Amino acid sequence: MKLTIEDVRSRFIKHFCGSTGSVYASPGRINLIGEHTDYNNGFVFPGAVEQGMIAEIKPNGTRFVDAYSIDLKDRAKFSLDDEKGPSATWARYIYGVCREMMALGVPVEGFNTAFAGDVPLGAGMSSSAALESTYAFALNDLWGDNKIDKMELARVGQRTEHKYIGCNCGIMDQAISVLGKKGSLMRLDCRSGEYEYFPWNPKGYQLILVNSCVKHELAGSPYNERRLQCEHVAEIIGKKHPSVESLRDATMEMLDEVKDLITEDEYKRARYVIGEVERVLAVCDALQHDDYEIVGKMMYETHYGLSKEYEVSCEELDFLNEIAKEEGVTGSRIMGGGFGGCTINLVAEELVPNFKKVVVEKFAAKYGKKPIIIDVVIGDGARKLC
Ligand code: GLA
Repeated sequence: MKLTIEDVRSRFIKHFCGSTGSVYASPGRINLIGEHTDYNNGFVFPGAVEQGMIAEIKPNGTRFVDAYSIDLKDRAKFSLDDEKGPSATWARYIYGVCREMMALGVPVEGFNTAFAGDVPLGAGMSSSAALESTYAFALNDLWGDNKIDKMELARVGQRTEHKYIGCNCGIMDQAISVLGKKGSLMRLDCRSGEYEYFPWNPKGYQLILVNSCVKHELAGSPYNERRLQCEHVAEIIGKKHPSVESLRDATMEMLDEVKDLITEDEYKRARYVIGEVERVLAVCDALQHDDYEIVGKMMYETHYGLSKEYEVSCEELDFLNEIAKEEGVTGSRIMGGGFGGCTINLVAEELVPNFKKVVVEKFAAKYGKKPIIIDVVIGDGARKLC
C-alpha cells in the first residue's frame, strides 16, 4: 500500500504530543544498467521510484534529536554534539546526515521526527539512500537556506554510509534519490557529477522488478572488498598507463597486459566493470533509436557478468534470470549491489501477465515462498510535501 503523509503525521502527533512540523520525502531507485560502475568513476543509469521515505520534522529548541521509526516501532534520542552517536543503525543514518550537514556549516538544531517508508527493505532499491536524502534535503531546507546544492546533499548521504555505517558505496543511490525526475531516467557520470535526463517511455515494454526476498545488506557483505579489488587493479594498470585513474579509464587490452600481476578474482572483477562501462554507453545509444532489443541484450550480459565474474549473485537471483529467459523476456538482470534483492526485467507488454504468473509459480514451487512483483513507475526526487 502506498505510504501517505497522513500515515506519518498521525504517528508524529501521537509520539510528540499533538503538534505538527514539516514533511519531506525522498525515493528509492531502480537502475536500468551500470552496476558497480559508480565507485569506479563510470556511468550509471538510474531512475527514482514512487516508493520512498516520508519524514515529519519539527525543531524542538534543544541540541537533541528525538527520532521515532514508525516501521520498526523504535525510538532513539541523541545529542547533535555527541561524537559517537546512537547505536541503532536506523538512527545512525539520521545522526550521520546531521553531523555531515553541520560539517558543511549548516547550523542544525535539535528536532523531533518520525519517519516511515514503503521501499521494501533489503530489496536493493536503496531504502537507506532514501532515508539519508530525506534528512539531507530537510535539514538544508530548515537550517541551510537551501544553499547546499543537490549533488552535495547526495554526497552527505554517501559520507554517512562511509563514516557511520561502514559501507563504502558509490554515489548512484543518493544522487538519484535527491535528483530523480518523474518519467525520466538519469545518466550520471560518476566522475564529473554531470548528469542528463532521458525521458523513459519504452513504447510496448514495461519494467518489472521481481523481489527474491533474499535480504540483501551491503554493510558487512563483500561489497567493500569488491571495491578494493577494483581499485587495486586500476592502480596496477595505472603504473603502465598513467592516464588510468580508475577502471573507467581502462580497456580489456590494458587489463590483459597486467593479468599476471593480479589475482584471478581481481581479473574477473575488472573484466566485468570494464564491460559494464561499455554496456551503459551502448544502452544510451540504443535508447536514441528506441532499440529495446539491444537494451535487453545488454541487461542479460550484465547479469552474466554480475553472476560469474563479479560474483554478487545468489541461486535465487540466477533462477529468476533463467525464468525470464525461458519466458522470452527482453532483458533481465540483478539490480543494485547484489547478494539478494531484486531482478529488473524489461518485458514486452503482451508478455507481462503471463510472465508475472509464471515467475511467481516457478519460484514458489522451488523455494516455497512467493517473490514479490513490483511494477516500476518512475517518480520524483527529494522534496518537501508540506
Ligand atoms: C549499491 C551502492 C551503489 C552501487 C550499487 C551497485 O546500491 O549503494 O553505490 O555501487 O550498489 O551498482
